[in-house]
Amino acid sequence: MSDQPWWKSAVVYQIYPRSFADTNGDGVGELAGIRAHLDHLVWLGVDALWLSPIFPSPMRDFGYDVADYCDIDPTFGTLADLDALVEDAHARGLRVLLDWVPAHTSSDHPWFVASRSSRDNPRRDWYVWRDPGPGGAVPNNWTTPWSEGGPTWTFDERTGQYWLHSFLSEQPDLNWENPEVVEAMHDTLRFWLDRGIDGFRADVIHNIGKDPALADVPAHQAKVPHCALNHDPRTIGHLRGIRAVVDAYPGDRMIVGEVFLTETKQVPAYYDSGRGLHLSFNFPPMFLPWEAAAWRGAIEEAAALFDPEDAWPTWVLSNHDWPRHRTRLGSEARARAAAVLLLTLRGTPFLYMGEELGLEDAAVPPERVVDPGGRDGCRAPIPWTRDSGHGWPPRAWLPLPPDAAARNVQAQRDAPSSTLHLYRRLLAARRNCDALASGSLHLLDGLPDGVLGYRRSAGDERLVLIHFQSGEVAVPGWPGSVVEVASDGRGEGETFDGTLGSDRAVILKPATS
Ligand code: GLC
Repeated sequence: MSDQPWWKSAVVYQIYPRSFADTNGDGVGELAGIRAHLDHLVWLGVDALWLSPIFPSPMRDFGYDVADYCDIDPTFGTLADLDALVEDAHARGLRVLLDWVPAHTSSDHPWFVASRSSRDNPRRDWYVWRDPGPGGAVPNNWTTPWSEGGPTWTFDERTGQYWLHSFLSEQPDLNWENPEVVEAMHDTLRFWLDRGIDGFRADVIHNIGKDPALADVPAHQAKVPHCALNHDPRTIGHLRGIRAVVDAYPGDRMIVGEVFLTETKQVPAYYDSGRGLHLSFNFPPMFLPWEAAAWRGAIEEAAALFDPEDAWPTWVLSNHDWPRHRTRLGSEARARAAAVLLLTLRGTPFLYMGEELGLEDAAVPPERVVDPGGRDGCRAPIPWTRDSGHGWPPRAWLPLPPDAAARNVQAQRDAPSSTLHLYRRLLAARRNCDALASGSLHLLDGLPDGVLGYRRSAGDERLVLIHFQSGEVAVPGWPGSVVEVASDGRGEGETFDGTLGSDRAVILKPATS
Protein backbone atom coordinates (compact mmCIF):
# COMPACT_ATOMS: atom_id res chain seq x y z
CA MET A 1 0.00 0.00 0.00
CA SER A 2 2.98 2.26 0.49
CA ASP A 3 3.04 3.37 -3.15
CA GLN A 4 -0.49 4.73 -2.83
CA PRO A 5 -1.34 8.23 -1.68
CA TRP A 6 -2.48 8.28 1.94
CA TRP A 7 -6.02 9.36 1.11
CA LYS A 8 -6.80 6.07 -0.64
CA SER A 9 -6.57 4.00 2.52
CA ALA A 10 -7.36 6.72 5.07
CA VAL A 11 -10.52 7.23 7.09
CA VAL A 12 -11.48 10.90 7.31
CA TYR A 13 -13.34 12.23 10.35
CA GLN A 14 -15.48 15.32 9.86
CA ILE A 15 -15.54 17.81 12.72
CA TYR A 16 -18.21 20.48 12.93
CA PRO A 17 -16.16 22.80 15.15
CA ARG A 18 -19.05 24.67 16.78
CA SER A 19 -20.26 21.40 18.27
CA PHE A 20 -17.16 19.33 18.86
CA ALA A 21 -15.77 20.53 22.19
CA ASP A 22 -16.10 23.71 24.23
CA THR A 23 -13.15 24.62 26.41
CA ASN A 24 -14.04 28.21 27.31
CA GLY A 25 -17.59 27.60 28.49
CA ASP A 26 -19.37 29.83 25.98
CA GLY A 27 -21.51 27.01 24.65
CA VAL A 28 -19.74 26.95 21.27
CA GLY A 29 -16.84 24.65 20.38
CA GLU A 30 -13.50 26.02 19.23
CA LEU A 31 -10.07 24.97 17.91
CA ALA A 32 -8.66 24.55 21.41
CA GLY A 33 -11.44 22.00 22.05
CA ILE A 34 -10.36 19.97 19.04
CA ARG A 35 -6.74 20.17 20.10
CA ALA A 36 -7.65 18.94 23.59
CA HIS A 37 -9.17 15.77 22.16
CA LEU A 38 -6.60 14.73 19.57
CA ASP A 39 -5.44 11.81 21.69
CA HIS A 40 -9.01 10.52 21.78
CA LEU A 41 -9.18 10.64 17.97
CA VAL A 42 -5.88 8.76 17.75
CA TRP A 43 -7.29 6.18 20.19
CA LEU A 44 -10.35 5.87 17.95
CA GLY A 45 -8.09 5.28 14.97
CA VAL A 46 -8.98 7.84 12.30
CA ASP A 47 -6.32 9.15 9.92
CA ALA A 48 -7.40 12.66 8.96
CA LEU A 49 -9.64 15.42 10.27
CA TRP A 50 -11.79 17.63 8.07
CA LEU A 51 -12.85 20.79 9.86
CA SER A 52 -16.04 22.46 8.66
CA PRO A 53 -15.37 26.18 8.02
CA ILE A 54 -13.52 28.13 10.70
CA PHE A 55 -12.99 31.36 8.76
CA PRO A 56 -14.35 34.82 9.67
CA SER A 57 -18.03 34.76 8.84
CA PRO A 58 -21.29 36.45 9.81
CA MET A 59 -22.48 32.82 10.31
CA ARG A 60 -25.70 33.15 8.37
CA ASP A 61 -24.84 29.69 7.04
CA PHE A 62 -22.58 28.88 9.99
CA GLY A 63 -19.31 29.49 8.21
CA TYR A 64 -20.25 28.43 4.68
CA ASP A 65 -20.53 32.20 4.13
CA VAL A 66 -16.88 33.26 4.25
CA ALA A 67 -15.95 36.90 4.83
CA ASP A 68 -12.17 36.31 4.80
CA TYR A 69 -10.57 33.16 3.40
CA CYS A 70 -7.25 33.73 5.14
CA ASP A 71 -8.03 34.09 8.83
CA ILE A 72 -9.85 32.36 11.70
CA ASP A 73 -13.18 33.50 13.11
CA PRO A 74 -12.72 34.65 16.73
CA THR A 75 -15.46 32.19 17.74
CA PHE A 76 -12.97 29.42 16.99
CA GLY A 77 -9.69 31.08 18.00
CA THR A 78 -6.75 32.53 16.11
CA LEU A 79 -4.29 31.56 13.40
CA ALA A 80 -1.88 30.64 16.18
CA ASP A 81 -4.51 28.24 17.58
CA LEU A 82 -4.84 26.59 14.19
CA ASP A 83 -1.07 26.32 13.79
CA ALA A 84 -0.86 24.68 17.22
CA LEU A 85 -3.67 22.29 16.37
CA VAL A 86 -2.03 21.30 13.08
CA GLU A 87 1.34 20.83 14.75
CA ASP A 88 -0.12 18.61 17.45
CA ALA A 89 -2.18 16.66 14.91
CA HIS A 90 0.85 16.07 12.69
CA ALA A 91 2.88 14.97 15.69
CA ARG A 92 0.26 12.26 16.20
CA GLY A 93 0.13 11.21 12.56
CA LEU A 94 -3.23 12.91 11.89
CA ARG A 95 -3.70 14.98 8.77
CA VAL A 96 -5.84 18.12 8.72
CA LEU A 97 -8.17 19.23 5.93
CA LEU A 98 -9.92 22.60 5.87
CA ASP A 99 -13.27 23.36 4.24
CA TRP A 100 -12.70 25.62 1.25
CA VAL A 101 -15.81 27.39 -0.02
CA PRO A 102 -15.00 28.40 -3.60
CA ALA A 103 -18.42 28.83 -5.20
CA HIS A 104 -19.65 31.79 -3.15
CA THR A 105 -18.53 34.24 -0.47
CA SER A 106 -20.41 35.99 2.28
CA SER A 107 -22.12 39.21 1.22
CA ASP A 108 -19.91 40.75 3.94
CA HIS A 109 -16.73 39.79 2.09
CA PRO A 110 -14.89 42.98 1.02
CA TRP A 111 -14.92 41.67 -2.56
CA PHE A 112 -18.70 41.67 -2.62
CA VAL A 113 -19.01 44.94 -0.72
CA ALA A 114 -16.88 46.51 -3.48
CA SER A 115 -18.71 44.65 -6.25
CA ARG A 116 -22.04 45.92 -5.00
CA SER A 117 -20.91 49.51 -4.56
CA SER A 118 -21.25 50.53 -8.22
CA ARG A 119 -21.57 49.09 -11.69
CA ASP A 120 -18.11 50.30 -12.64
CA ASN A 121 -16.27 49.07 -9.57
CA PRO A 122 -13.28 46.92 -10.62
CA ARG A 123 -14.74 44.07 -8.55
CA ARG A 124 -18.20 44.29 -10.17
CA ASP A 125 -17.51 41.34 -12.43
CA TRP A 126 -16.15 39.18 -9.60
CA TYR A 127 -19.76 38.17 -8.96
CA VAL A 128 -22.65 37.41 -11.29
CA TRP A 129 -24.85 40.45 -11.97
CA ARG A 130 -27.71 40.62 -14.45
CA ASP A 131 -30.29 43.18 -15.52
CA PRO A 132 -33.91 42.58 -14.55
CA GLY A 133 -36.16 40.90 -17.08
CA PRO A 134 -39.34 42.52 -18.43
CA GLY A 135 -41.34 44.19 -15.66
CA GLY A 136 -38.43 43.85 -13.22
CA ALA A 137 -38.58 40.04 -13.30
CA VAL A 138 -35.72 37.83 -12.07
CA PRO A 139 -33.22 37.00 -14.83
CA ASN A 140 -34.08 33.28 -15.01
CA ASN A 141 -36.05 30.48 -13.31
CA TRP A 142 -33.27 29.04 -11.12
CA THR A 143 -34.15 28.19 -7.51
CA THR A 144 -32.25 27.78 -4.24
CA PRO A 145 -32.56 24.92 -1.74
CA TRP A 146 -33.81 27.49 0.80
CA SER A 147 -36.96 29.57 1.28
CA GLU A 148 -39.06 26.79 -0.22
CA GLY A 149 -37.21 27.00 -3.48
CA GLY A 150 -37.05 30.78 -3.78
CA PRO A 151 -35.22 32.41 -6.70
CA THR A 152 -31.41 32.47 -6.84
CA TRP A 153 -31.57 36.22 -7.40
CA THR A 154 -31.72 39.29 -5.16
CA PHE A 155 -32.23 42.77 -6.53
CA ASP A 156 -29.80 45.50 -5.56
CA GLU A 157 -31.74 48.80 -5.47
CA ARG A 158 -28.66 50.99 -5.64
CA THR A 159 -27.18 49.59 -8.84
CA GLY A 160 -30.40 48.29 -10.41
CA GLN A 161 -29.26 44.74 -11.08
CA TYR A 162 -29.77 41.30 -9.57
CA TRP A 163 -26.95 39.26 -8.02
CA LEU A 164 -26.83 35.48 -8.32
CA HIS A 165 -26.80 33.33 -5.19
CA SER A 166 -27.23 29.57 -5.50
CA PHE A 167 -27.84 29.46 -1.73
CA LEU A 168 -28.81 32.31 0.65
CA SER A 169 -28.93 35.84 -0.74
CA GLU A 170 -26.06 36.54 1.70
CA GLN A 171 -23.97 33.99 -0.24
CA PRO A 172 -23.35 35.65 -3.63
CA ASP A 173 -21.86 33.30 -6.26
CA LEU A 174 -18.32 34.14 -7.37
CA ASN A 175 -17.77 34.57 -11.10
CA TRP A 176 -15.11 31.99 -11.95
CA GLU A 177 -15.20 33.10 -15.59
CA ASN A 178 -13.21 36.15 -14.41
CA PRO A 179 -9.47 35.23 -14.33
CA GLU A 180 -8.87 37.60 -11.41
CA VAL A 181 -11.29 35.57 -9.31
CA VAL A 182 -9.50 32.37 -10.28
CA GLU A 183 -6.14 33.83 -9.24
CA ALA A 184 -7.48 35.25 -5.98
CA MET A 185 -9.04 31.92 -5.05
CA HIS A 186 -5.85 30.02 -5.93
CA ASP A 187 -4.05 32.36 -3.56
CA THR A 188 -6.41 31.39 -0.74
CA LEU A 189 -5.38 27.76 -1.27
CA ARG A 190 -1.70 28.68 -1.25
CA PHE A 191 -2.18 30.59 2.01
CA TRP A 192 -3.21 27.40 3.82
CA LEU A 193 -0.93 25.03 1.91
CA ASP A 194 2.01 27.24 2.92
CA ARG A 195 0.91 26.80 6.55
CA GLY A 196 1.10 23.02 6.25
CA ILE A 197 -2.57 22.15 5.72
CA ASP A 198 -2.88 18.70 4.11
CA GLY A 199 -5.77 19.52 1.85
CA PHE A 200 -9.33 20.63 1.55
CA ARG A 201 -12.90 19.54 1.39
CA ALA A 202 -14.23 21.83 -1.33
CA ASP A 203 -17.78 23.01 -0.78
CA VAL A 204 -20.25 22.59 -3.71
CA ILE A 205 -17.26 22.77 -6.04
CA HIS A 206 -19.26 21.50 -9.00
CA ASN A 207 -21.08 24.83 -8.89
CA ILE A 208 -18.11 27.08 -9.74
CA GLY A 209 -18.47 26.84 -13.53
CA LYS A 210 -21.51 28.39 -15.15
CA ASP A 211 -22.60 28.95 -18.70
CA PRO A 212 -22.65 32.76 -18.93
CA ALA A 213 -25.93 32.49 -20.87
CA LEU A 214 -27.57 31.53 -17.54
CA ALA A 215 -30.42 29.95 -19.49
CA ASP A 216 -33.67 28.81 -17.86
CA VAL A 217 -33.82 25.18 -16.80
CA PRO A 218 -36.67 23.14 -18.34
CA ALA A 219 -39.98 23.86 -16.57
CA HIS A 220 -40.20 20.36 -15.06
CA GLN A 221 -36.90 20.99 -13.23
CA ALA A 222 -37.67 24.48 -12.04
CA LYS A 223 -38.31 23.29 -8.47
CA VAL A 224 -35.00 21.37 -8.27
CA PRO A 225 -32.33 23.62 -6.68
CA HIS A 226 -30.18 24.85 -9.55
CA CYS A 227 -26.96 23.85 -7.80
CA ALA A 228 -28.02 20.18 -8.03
CA LEU A 229 -28.47 20.48 -11.81
CA ASN A 230 -25.41 22.54 -12.70
CA HIS A 231 -23.16 20.00 -14.41
CA ASP A 232 -21.18 22.43 -16.56
CA PRO A 233 -17.97 21.59 -18.48
CA ARG A 234 -16.33 24.88 -17.46
CA THR A 235 -15.97 23.50 -13.96
CA ILE A 236 -13.64 20.76 -15.19
CA GLY A 237 -11.32 23.40 -16.65
CA HIS A 238 -11.28 25.27 -13.34
CA LEU A 239 -10.53 22.05 -11.47
CA ARG A 240 -7.40 21.51 -13.55
CA GLY A 241 -6.08 24.87 -12.38
CA ILE A 242 -6.95 24.10 -8.76
CA ARG A 243 -5.33 20.67 -8.97
CA ALA A 244 -2.13 22.19 -10.33
CA VAL A 245 -1.97 24.58 -7.35
CA VAL A 246 -2.39 21.76 -4.85
CA ASP A 247 -0.09 19.28 -6.60
CA ALA A 248 2.71 21.87 -6.70
CA TYR A 249 3.15 21.25 -2.97
CA PRO A 250 5.02 18.24 -1.60
CA GLY A 251 3.42 15.60 0.58
CA ASP A 252 0.31 14.35 -1.21
CA ARG A 253 -1.94 17.31 -0.48
CA MET A 254 -5.46 16.61 -1.67
CA ILE A 255 -8.91 17.96 -2.44
CA VAL A 256 -12.12 16.08 -1.85
CA GLY A 257 -14.96 17.80 -3.63
CA GLU A 258 -18.55 18.12 -2.56
CA VAL A 259 -20.08 17.27 -5.92
CA PHE A 260 -23.71 17.36 -5.02
CA LEU A 261 -25.43 16.20 -8.16
CA THR A 262 -28.41 13.94 -8.15
CA GLU A 263 -26.84 11.40 -10.52
CA THR A 264 -23.81 9.27 -9.65
CA LYS A 265 -22.93 8.86 -13.31
CA GLN A 266 -22.07 12.58 -13.49
CA VAL A 267 -19.59 12.41 -10.61
CA PRO A 268 -16.53 10.65 -12.14
CA ALA A 269 -16.07 13.50 -14.65
CA TYR A 270 -14.92 15.71 -11.76
CA TYR A 271 -11.90 13.46 -11.17
CA ASP A 272 -11.02 14.08 -14.82
CA SER A 273 -8.67 11.07 -14.91
CA GLY A 274 -6.37 12.44 -12.25
CA ARG A 275 -6.38 16.05 -13.46
CA GLY A 276 -9.37 17.21 -11.41
CA LEU A 277 -10.41 16.31 -7.87
CA HIS A 278 -8.35 13.76 -5.98
CA LEU A 279 -11.59 12.47 -4.46
CA SER A 280 -15.24 13.31 -4.78
CA PHE A 281 -18.13 12.58 -2.50
CA ASN A 282 -20.79 10.32 -3.91
CA PHE A 283 -23.99 11.16 -2.08
CA PRO A 284 -26.84 9.06 -3.50
CA PRO A 285 -25.96 6.05 -1.28
CA MET A 286 -26.68 8.33 1.70
CA PHE A 287 -30.33 8.23 0.75
CA LEU A 288 -30.72 4.51 0.11
CA PRO A 289 -33.34 2.48 1.95
CA TRP A 290 -32.07 -0.17 4.36
CA GLU A 291 -32.28 -2.96 1.79
CA ALA A 292 -29.67 -5.41 0.54
CA ALA A 293 -30.72 -5.02 -3.09
CA ALA A 294 -30.47 -1.22 -2.99
CA TRP A 295 -26.97 -1.37 -1.52
CA ARG A 296 -25.89 -4.03 -3.97
CA GLY A 297 -27.04 -1.74 -6.77
CA ALA A 298 -25.06 1.20 -5.35
CA ILE A 299 -21.92 -0.92 -4.97
CA GLU A 300 -22.24 -2.24 -8.52
CA GLU A 301 -22.82 1.25 -9.86
CA ALA A 302 -19.76 2.61 -8.04
CA ALA A 303 -17.65 -0.30 -9.34
CA ALA A 304 -18.79 0.39 -12.89
CA LEU A 305 -18.31 4.17 -12.77
CA PHE A 306 -15.28 4.77 -10.56
CA ASP A 307 -12.02 3.44 -11.96
CA PRO A 308 -9.85 2.75 -8.92
CA GLU A 309 -6.75 4.10 -10.68
CA ASP A 310 -8.21 7.43 -11.74
CA ALA A 311 -11.35 7.93 -9.67
CA TRP A 312 -11.02 6.30 -6.29
CA PRO A 313 -14.52 6.10 -4.76
CA THR A 314 -15.69 7.49 -1.42
CA TRP A 315 -18.46 6.46 0.95
CA VAL A 316 -20.36 8.47 3.53
CA LEU A 317 -23.44 7.87 5.68
CA SER A 318 -23.79 11.15 7.57
CA ASN A 319 -22.66 14.76 7.55
CA HIS A 320 -23.69 18.19 8.83
CA ASP A 321 -26.38 18.66 6.16
CA TRP A 322 -28.65 15.64 6.56
CA PRO A 323 -30.31 13.63 9.32
CA ARG A 324 -27.79 11.28 10.90
CA HIS A 325 -27.93 7.68 9.67
CA ARG A 326 -28.83 6.49 13.17
CA THR A 327 -31.92 8.70 12.88
CA ARG A 328 -32.65 7.78 9.26
CA LEU A 329 -32.29 4.04 9.75
CA GLY A 330 -34.32 4.05 12.95
CA SER A 331 -32.40 1.63 15.16
CA GLU A 332 -29.08 1.15 16.85
CA ALA A 333 -28.64 -2.33 15.35
CA ARG A 334 -29.04 -0.97 11.83
CA ALA A 335 -26.73 1.97 12.47
CA ARG A 336 -24.08 -0.43 13.76
CA ALA A 337 -24.46 -2.79 10.81
CA ALA A 338 -24.25 0.24 8.51
CA ALA A 339 -20.93 1.16 10.14
CA VAL A 340 -19.57 -2.26 9.16
CA LEU A 341 -20.73 -1.60 5.61
CA LEU A 342 -19.27 1.92 5.45
CA LEU A 343 -15.89 0.84 6.77
CA THR A 344 -15.50 -2.24 4.57
CA LEU A 345 -16.52 -0.94 1.15
CA ARG A 346 -13.94 -0.20 -1.50
CA GLY A 347 -13.12 3.50 -1.25
CA THR A 348 -12.30 6.20 1.27
CA PRO A 349 -14.87 6.40 4.09
CA PHE A 350 -15.87 9.68 5.69
CA LEU A 351 -17.17 9.64 9.26
CA TYR A 352 -19.21 12.46 10.74
CA MET A 353 -18.32 13.25 14.36
CA GLY A 354 -20.71 11.55 16.76
CA GLU A 355 -21.74 8.67 14.52
CA GLU A 356 -19.16 6.64 16.45
CA LEU A 357 -21.31 7.27 19.54
CA GLY A 358 -24.49 6.21 17.75
CA LEU A 359 -25.86 9.72 18.11
CA GLU A 360 -29.32 10.58 16.86
CA ASP A 361 -30.33 14.05 15.74
CA ALA A 362 -31.29 16.39 18.57
CA ALA A 363 -34.89 17.45 18.90
CA VAL A 364 -34.66 21.21 18.41
CA PRO A 365 -37.71 23.15 19.62
CA PRO A 366 -38.90 25.91 17.27
CA GLU A 367 -37.60 28.69 19.52
CA ARG A 368 -34.08 27.26 19.33
CA VAL A 369 -33.89 26.75 15.57
CA VAL A 370 -30.91 28.66 14.17
CA ASP A 371 -30.16 27.18 10.75
CA PRO A 372 -32.07 28.57 7.76
CA GLY A 373 -31.82 25.13 6.15
CA GLY A 374 -33.40 23.15 9.01
CA ARG A 375 -30.23 21.16 9.74
CA ASP A 376 -29.76 21.89 13.44
CA GLY A 377 -30.62 18.36 14.60
CA CYS A 378 -27.53 16.69 13.13
CA ARG A 379 -25.29 19.54 14.32
CA ALA A 380 -25.96 19.09 18.04
CA PRO A 381 -22.98 19.19 20.45
CA ILE A 382 -20.96 16.04 21.16
CA PRO A 383 -21.58 14.73 24.70
CA TRP A 384 -18.17 14.07 26.24
CA THR A 385 -18.74 13.24 29.88
CA ARG A 386 -21.23 11.35 32.05
CA ASP A 387 -22.10 14.33 34.24
CA SER A 388 -25.25 16.28 33.58
CA GLY A 389 -23.64 18.92 31.35
CA HIS A 390 -21.75 16.29 29.30
CA GLY A 391 -18.92 18.76 28.80
CA TRP A 392 -21.14 21.74 27.86
CA PRO A 393 -22.51 24.70 29.79
CA PRO A 394 -26.23 24.55 30.72
CA ARG A 395 -27.26 26.18 27.48
CA ALA A 396 -25.04 25.24 24.58
CA TRP A 397 -25.69 26.83 21.17
CA LEU A 398 -27.93 23.85 20.33
CA PRO A 399 -29.61 21.26 22.54
CA LEU A 400 -27.69 18.02 23.07
CA PRO A 401 -28.70 14.82 21.23
CA PRO A 402 -31.08 12.36 22.93
CA ASP A 403 -29.85 9.96 25.60
CA ALA A 404 -26.59 11.80 26.22
CA ALA A 405 -26.37 10.06 29.59
CA ALA A 406 -25.47 6.84 27.77
CA ARG A 407 -24.26 8.19 24.46
CA ASN A 408 -21.25 10.14 25.63
CA VAL A 409 -17.55 9.53 25.08
CA GLN A 410 -16.69 8.78 28.70
CA ALA A 411 -19.39 6.16 29.21
CA GLN A 412 -18.73 4.49 25.89
CA ARG A 413 -14.98 4.36 26.32
CA ASP A 414 -15.65 2.41 29.50
CA ALA A 415 -18.03 -0.04 27.79
CA PRO A 416 -16.46 -2.54 25.39
CA SER A 417 -19.88 -3.32 23.91
CA SER A 418 -20.48 0.33 22.93
CA THR A 419 -20.83 1.72 19.44
CA LEU A 420 -17.63 3.69 20.07
CA HIS A 421 -15.67 0.49 20.62
CA LEU A 422 -17.27 -1.06 17.54
CA TYR A 423 -15.96 1.83 15.43
CA ARG A 424 -12.55 1.48 17.05
CA ARG A 425 -12.42 -2.23 16.23
CA LEU A 426 -13.55 -1.57 12.66
CA LEU A 427 -10.89 1.10 12.20
CA ALA A 428 -8.24 -1.20 13.63
CA ALA A 429 -9.39 -4.03 11.34
CA ARG A 430 -9.01 -1.74 8.31
CA ARG A 431 -5.66 -0.50 9.41
CA ASN A 432 -4.30 -4.01 9.89
CA CYS A 433 -5.59 -5.45 6.64
CA ASP A 434 -4.70 -4.33 3.11
CA ALA A 435 -7.74 -6.14 1.73
CA LEU A 436 -10.12 -3.98 3.78
CA ALA A 437 -8.17 -0.76 3.39
CA SER A 438 -7.76 -0.82 -0.35
CA GLY A 439 -8.28 -4.26 -1.84
CA SER A 440 -10.64 -5.33 -4.59
CA LEU A 441 -14.31 -6.01 -3.84
CA HIS A 442 -16.16 -8.99 -5.22
CA LEU A 443 -19.91 -9.24 -4.56
CA LEU A 444 -21.17 -12.70 -3.64
CA ASP A 445 -24.10 -14.26 -5.48
CA GLY A 446 -26.69 -16.69 -4.26
CA LEU A 447 -27.01 -15.37 -0.72
CA PRO A 448 -30.37 -15.57 1.06
CA ASP A 449 -32.85 -12.74 0.65
CA GLY A 450 -31.90 -9.63 2.59
CA VAL A 451 -28.21 -10.55 2.89
CA LEU A 452 -25.43 -8.66 1.15
CA GLY A 453 -21.97 -10.19 1.04
CA TYR A 454 -18.64 -9.38 -0.52
CA ARG A 455 -15.08 -10.53 -0.50
CA ARG A 456 -12.22 -8.04 -0.17
CA SER A 457 -8.83 -9.15 -1.44
CA ALA A 458 -5.30 -7.77 -1.63
CA GLY A 459 -3.09 -10.75 -0.96
CA ASP A 460 -4.98 -11.23 2.29
CA GLU A 461 -8.78 -11.66 2.23
CA ARG A 462 -11.88 -10.83 4.24
CA LEU A 463 -15.53 -11.72 3.85
CA VAL A 464 -18.19 -9.21 4.85
CA LEU A 465 -21.80 -10.26 5.41
CA ILE A 466 -24.65 -7.89 6.24
CA HIS A 467 -28.21 -8.92 7.07
CA PHE A 468 -30.70 -6.16 6.34
CA GLN A 469 -33.81 -7.90 7.66
CA SER A 470 -35.21 -9.24 10.90
CA GLY A 471 -35.03 -12.82 12.09
CA GLU A 472 -32.18 -15.27 11.86
CA VAL A 473 -30.77 -16.43 8.55
CA ALA A 474 -28.23 -19.10 7.68
CA VAL A 475 -25.36 -17.81 5.53
CA PRO A 476 -22.37 -19.55 4.02
CA GLY A 477 -19.07 -18.35 5.44
CA TRP A 478 -15.71 -19.85 4.60
CA PRO A 479 -15.24 -23.19 6.35
CA GLY A 480 -13.78 -22.53 9.76
CA SER A 481 -13.69 -18.76 9.25
CA VAL A 482 -13.32 -16.56 12.30
CA VAL A 483 -15.43 -13.54 13.24
CA GLU A 484 -13.04 -10.58 13.26
CA VAL A 485 -15.65 -7.89 13.96
CA ALA A 486 -19.38 -8.25 14.57
CA SER A 487 -21.75 -5.29 14.62
CA ASP A 488 -23.18 -6.52 17.95
CA GLY A 489 -19.79 -7.61 19.26
CA ARG A 490 -20.91 -11.23 19.70
CA GLY A 491 -18.66 -14.10 18.71
CA GLU A 492 -15.60 -12.03 17.86
CA GLY A 493 -12.47 -14.17 17.77
CA GLU A 494 -14.59 -17.32 17.49
CA THR A 495 -15.39 -19.58 14.57
CA PHE A 496 -18.35 -18.18 12.62
CA ASP A 497 -21.50 -20.18 13.40
CA GLY A 498 -23.04 -19.56 9.98
CA THR A 499 -25.99 -17.47 11.12
CA LEU A 500 -26.86 -13.80 11.15
CA GLY A 501 -29.58 -12.31 13.35
CA SER A 502 -31.64 -9.19 12.61
CA ASP A 503 -29.69 -6.25 11.18
CA ARG A 504 -26.37 -7.87 12.03
CA ALA A 505 -23.09 -7.63 10.11
CA VAL A 506 -19.80 -9.47 10.42
CA ILE A 507 -16.29 -9.34 9.02
CA LEU A 508 -14.86 -12.85 8.68
CA LYS A 509 -11.27 -13.85 8.23
CA PRO A 510 -10.12 -17.14 6.75
CA ALA A 511 -9.31 -19.89 9.21
CA THR A 512 -5.61 -19.68 8.46
CA SER A 513 -4.99 -15.92 8.82
C1 GLC B 1 -22.69 22.76 1.18
C2 GLC B 1 -22.50 22.67 2.66
C3 GLC B 1 -23.72 23.23 3.32
C4 GLC B 1 -23.86 24.67 2.88
C5 GLC B 1 -23.90 24.80 1.37
C6 GLC B 1 -23.71 26.21 0.94
O1 GLC B 1 -23.70 21.95 0.73
O2 GLC B 1 -22.25 21.35 3.05
O3 GLC B 1 -23.64 23.15 4.72
O4 GLC B 1 -25.05 25.22 3.41
O5 GLC B 1 -22.87 24.07 0.77
O6 GLC B 1 -22.39 26.61 1.15
